[in-house]
Amino acid sequence: MVMRICICFPPDQGAERWAQALAAAPELQPWQPQVEVWKADPKDAAESADYALVWRAPQAFFDAQPLLKGIFTAGAGVDALSGLRLPPAATLVRLVDAGMASQMADHALWAVLHHQRRMDAYQAQARSGQWQPHPPEDKADWPVGVLGFGVLGQAVAQALAQRGFAVRAWARTPREDAVPAGLTDAVYAGESGLVELLQASRVLICLLPLTPQTRGLLDKARLGALKPGALLVNLARGGHVVQADLMAALDDPAHPLTAAVLDVCEPEPAPPEHPFWHHPRIVLTPHIAAATLRAESVAQIAQGISALQRGERPSGWVPPQRGY
Ligand code: NAP
Ligand code: GLV
Repeated sequence: MVMRICICFPPDQGAERWAQALAAAPELQPWQPQVEVWKADPKDAAESADYALVWRAPQAFFDAQPLLKGIFTAGAGVDALSGLRLPPAATLVRLVDAGMASQMADHALWAVLHHQRRMDAYQAQARSGQWQPHPPEDKADWPVGVLGFGVLGQAVAQALAQRGFAVRAWARTPREDAVPAGLTDAVYAGESGLVELLQASRVLICLLPLTPQTRGLLDKARLGALKPGALLVNLARGGHVVQADLMAALDDPAHPLTAAVLDVCEPEPAPPEHPFWHHPRIVLTPHIAAATLRAESVAQIAQGISALQRGERPSGWVPPQRGY
């Protein structure tokens, strides 16, 4: 019997090439996969697929796929699906690493070194041809706090610890081990753990999933608890940061936060008039910290579909009550 898979991506995101790669995946051949790209036009509507591969799919897509057994996201985050009515029998599965962890570690290292090595200052000086060395900054003066100690948070924390930074992390679940392998300090949990981490950190890196519990987490008070001369690096979702509070903090000379490196914002894409583009102490990149890689992702999704076909739970399963 044929297995139907339907892909729903925003336009210009190469859905056809994903369809070809998924149709050719060796794990899926026993089920004769038939992979289609969703067309919003109702006259093209086919019967419901068995599995969906989605990124920012609209409600109309899920309404047309009532028999889905599995929904696979082409990313690590599933926040774009929150608030949508999904077919009740569908298991939600996200990407786990799939080549993103090493990109994320590189991006975080760049962001932290850019400031700790004063490249921000040298870049500004270069614009006016100013040859002016500054005294070197000690890494010991740049303790790092990583919010989220999952697949990506761990890769980032370990990369920074290996480069000599003191690194703490914060997660939802308390950890048994006092200091996990590769870290220089504990993983904190709970509100009191968050306050402790903020007060000990000069660099704050956000790698949390966006959920009702984490939306708006980084507000004026929490950013104000950081060490003086602090840097915020948000690599997760724009909704984690209260954007007006961030702008106010950066404009207040008495506030400990002095710079931000942001890969995400609200809305995305940021329009030309978005204030983040124009603030001299914000570096904004267009959500490129860790790109979804097609070959790695298709291999993982094919394994996930074959696990579901065998009645097994795939890696990347998102428990509905947890939401990430
Ligand atoms: P993950 O493995 O699920 O890790 C999530 C971490 O956040 C876990 O440590 C989890 O705690 C912690 N967490 C969740 N809710 C929390 C809460 N309420 N309080 C404290 N900690 C909480 O996710 P991942 O694969 O590392 O991805 C993280 C996020 O990165 C994604 O959701 C996505 O938004 C973002 N991302 C961005 C890009 C980009 O290019 N900018 C690319 C990929 C992903 P536990 O360990 O206790 O479960
Ligand atoms: C990208 O932001 C992802 O969630 O993979």
